[in-house]
Amino acid sequence: MTALTLSTAAAPGLRADAIVVGVAKGGSAKSSDLVVAPGAEAVDKAYDGGLAGVLETLGASGGEGEVTKLPAPSGFKAPVVLAVGLGSQPDKDASFGTETLRRAAGAAARALAGSKKAAFALPITDAADAGAIGEGALLGAYSFDTYKENGKDGKKDAKNGKAPLAEVALLGGKPRDRAYKAAVERATAVSQELNRARDLVNTPPNDLNPEAFAAVAQAAAKEHGIKVQVLDEKALEKGGYGGILGVGAGSASAPRLVQLSYTSSKAKKHLAFVGKGITYDSGGISLKPAGHNETMKCDMSGAAAVFAAVVAAARLGLEVNVTGWLALAENMPSGSATRPGDVLRMYSGKTVEVLNTDAEGRLVLADALWKASEDKPDAIVDVATLTGAMVLALGNRTFGVMANDDAFRSAIVEAAEEAGEPSWPMPLPDHLKKGMDSPTADIANMGERMGGGLVAGLFLKEFVGEGITWAHLDIAGPAFNESGPFGYTPKGGTGSAVRTLVRVAELAASGDLG
Ligand code: BES
Ligand code: MN
Ligand code: ZN
Repeated sequence: MTALTLSTAAAPGLRADAIVVGVAKGGSAKSSDLVVAPGAEAVDKAYDGGLAGVLETLGASGGEGEVTKLPAPSGFKAPVVLAVGLGSQPDKDASFGTETLRRAAGAAARALAGSKKAAFALPITDAADAGAIGEGALLGAYSFDTYKENGKDGKKDAKNGKAPLAEVALLGGKPRDRAYKAAVERATAVSQELNRARDLVNTPPNDLNPEAFAAVAQAAAKEHGIKVQVLDEKALEKGGYGGILGVGAGSASAPRLVQLSYTSSKAKKHLAFVGKGITYDSGGISLKPAGHNETMKCDMSGAAAVFAAVVAAARLGLEVNVTGWLALAENMPSGSATRPGDVLRMYSGKTVEVLNTDAEGRLVLADALWKASEDKPDAIVDVATLTGAMVLALGNRTFGVMANDDAFRSAIVEAAEEAGEPSWPMPLPDHLKKGMDSPTADIANMGERMGGGLVAGLFLKEFVGEGITWAHLDIAGPAFNESGPFGYTPKGGTGSAVRTLVRVAELAASGDLG
């Protein structure tokens, strides 16, 4: 795991493999003007103030995410200077913005894979900037190589890729300032847990079934003083969890419901986070066609996000109670699988006609939402890779936010924005509920095709306890990155929604949520 520290060292004498500086597009008349961003004055001085000119000669434009490497000036202990683009320069004295810094740090850390230590001399105006740069660097340094030969032991060769950056030092911060120290601690805890969520998502489904996921959660809970309870198939049967059992019925690996309880003696609020944890979604008897199931190990991304957020909340000692619910099952076709046409009796007592076994996420979530509601938390937030329709609506980088309370929905979207995660509010139009009417049962698990993401949200709403504030995050788009890496986002599992949930917990702790 990459280590993060604040350093007061001066750039020239610093022992590192590279020094990272920022370069921006100057705001003036000539749009080709490059400016070296604040924080890199000592580096620029060593080039006799000509760093921007050198970068321009090398073809740098200052565009976001652009990376230019050049030899360090003579006299520097570090051999390389890496300039990362920050986009347009902000107005005088304004910060570049935390998300711009986070992405730039991520792009730099990715480009430095194979190096041991890098010093980041990016523009820092306050502790939040330092935290964002730290977060971006730790998230950008992520790699998943458990299944590569020579993986995880540091002994990489060209064939197996380069080891991630091991050490990040932030220059220009205030190592003795409490706010800066807290920002670095927060960045470290959140990034490490988020990277752990990515590991879970990337782990192939033959190695991460519901039982294995539950075991990982149990071990982490023990390590961080979180109370944990795992309901296995027998307990689920006894409790009447027809949704979770129905989805898991076709699999050789039995389902689980995991409850993680983090409590603070100073808590005034109680949040429940509920995660969809389909460790593999084949579609079941309504089997997905080839081309639609290759990435379906990602269908437990919601549960991974909830798990990571609860552990991060515990590590940060947030003054709020957080209960995490992981609804874990594998959706497979077999002779024992739930059929289209079957009726399930859910934990809430409602009956559901299963018209399409590929609409399984809402079934496991329904049981977990009803169970979570029994504690009467102040709010419930569920996270799920729920519908392809949400991907069509919002694309691959934005998650949809639905809620039974408009103010709460806005609060969640705002929290996501603060955390650096793109999201968008979506409605839950009542008229779409009718499409889920079933001649046989209380409700069907499918409705109109149009607005499929909203239909799924409306289904979930039926399983939220009376009077409980609830929001639903459909992360089907951003949870898994099938194209190339960008900023601090790698290919594969992204850790979507972890930072939003942590931010929501922080806001609840300070009494500022909605
Ligand atoms: N896990 C899928 C949704 C999904 C799609 C996640 C793409 C990530 C990327 C979900 O279980 C599913 O299959 N949903 C169906 C619902 C439909 C049958 C009503 C869908 O969206 O097609
Ligand atoms: Mn499905
Ligand atoms: Zn699914």
